[in-house]
Amino acid sequence: MIPLTVAEITEITGAAADPGTDPGAVASGPVVIDSRQARPGSLFAALPGSRADGHDFAPLAAAAGAVAILASRPAGVPALIVPDVPAALAALARAVTSRLPDLTIAAITGSAGKTTTKDLTAQLAESLGATVSPQNSYNNEIGHPLTVLRVTSQTRYLIAEMSARGPGHIAALCAMSPPRLGAVLCVGHAHAGVFGSIDDVARAKAELPAALPADGVAVLNADDPRVLAMAGQTAARVVTFGRSPGADIRASGVEVDGSGRPSFTLVTRDGSVPVRLRLHGEHNVANALAAAALAGQLGMDVAAIGEGLSAATARSRWRMEVTRRPDRVTVINDAYNANPEAMAAALATLAAMAGGGRAFAVLGYMTELGAEAERLHEQAGRQAAGAGLAGLVVVGEEAAPMLDGAKADPSWHGELVQVPDAAAAVAAVQERVRPGDVVLVKASRAADLQRVALALTGEVAL
Ligand SMILES: Nc1ncnc2c1ncn2[C@@H]1O[C@H](COP(=O)(O)OP(=O)(O)O)[C@@H](O)[C@H]1O
Ligand SMILES: [Mg+2]
Repeated sequence: MIPLTVAEITEITGAAADPGTDPGAVASGPVVIDSRQARPGSLFAALPGSRADGHDFAPLAAAAGAVAILASRPAGVPALIVPDVPAALAALARAVTSRLPDLTIAAITGSAGKTTTKDLTAQLAESLGATVSPQNSYNNEIGHPLTVLRVTSQTRYLIAEMSARGPGHIAALCAMSPPRLGAVLCVGHAHAGVFGSIDDVARAKAELPAALPADGVAVLNADDPRVLAMAGQTAARVVTFGRSPGADIRASGVEVDGSGRPSFTLVTRDGSVPVRLRLHGEHNVANALAAAALAGQLGMDVAAIGEGLSAATARSRWRMEVTRRPDRVTVINDAYNANPEAMAAALATLAAMAGGGRAFAVLGYMTELGAEAERLHEQAGRQAAGAGLAGLVVVGEEAAPMLDGAKADPSWHGELVQVPDAAAAVAAVQERVRPGDVVLVKASRAADLQRVALALTGEVAL
């Protein structure tokens, strides 16, 4: 963080400073919301959590050296009292970015692939200069300002992930850290139930291109009509990516090897270069193209982009994470999140990785699909049938329509298993798998199939 005095923080956030706070003390970061991460120089933000209230931990943060405490009520130690702590973090983020005119901010949004694209783009940007990017999916009104506040005067690039669960969210994130570059990956069904419809999702994602300045660049997916239409809603120059022949940045000759890793030729207006991704799944080609487009706009040449993409690794865990067990069973842990588009991508990768061998999928429910939930779960079942599985293990009642979908597909010839919980899912898989088999585990985070994947890889006992 760029150093700020307590007096500056008070002014920026409009706080009422408790007696006993030292206006001259300097907070140099990190900004933390967990008292266990507080260090000398920290700014501790007390947030009400679902299980614990940060205010109760303010004394611990102060004891650990936090120079300033942002709180919305008396916290047992002298604090800067604001009506709304997240809004205070947003104000600080805005103040910090406005003091750093040489910082280039690139933001990434979309229904699927944000974290992967953010991680790829950050790995490319790091070869150009000091880069800050969020841990995992720090992409909302709390995680985003915490990420922005990690920026220092040395940072050249901020590669941000922006998520929306309602209208105005992305616009608010853009206001905190005005991006010059913005990429929209795709508009899908993720959170469609919360928004109302997929068109509402599109409107929310369009807030990113709409926030870009005239000297900025909107990176848009040429293969997704809802995204491409956002070209009309931005003042920025438009650069497109995708498989479409007209895309500015495109992939040709895409091939997926036996471990599900795509290779392709990255074709740009400035030349072409071979890329062999270390990530699993053909869907990552689109993510790599978006990262390439952003890096190109940061000034990276095509050869360096090709090398960088081929060297980049999956930084955030549990996205198509592949483990080969000693008994030669392969487990794909994609249990971080799920939505219909991601489900289709994961099943296609599973089929590619199984080759002619046996594939199993352990699938749980996808959250927040609203009125379309049943139809979309059935569709996932049909896609599982299309993947030619030896067995489909469906976990929990909410996911049961997947079984109907698979059964209804005339090509289905595998075994259908319905289990109530994670432990039963692990048992069902262990009973069936043989050396050479591939097992995919996927569901929304709330379905908690992470435990299934980790038990299957032996990382945790269930
Ligand atoms: N371009 C894509 N199209 C469809 N599914 C994708 C794509 N990129 C990623 N996914 C799926 O979404 C899951 C989450 O990926 P992630 O990069 O974390 O996205 P996000 O941050 O948007 O949730 C992945 O495990 C994968 O199954
Ligand atoms: Mg994410």
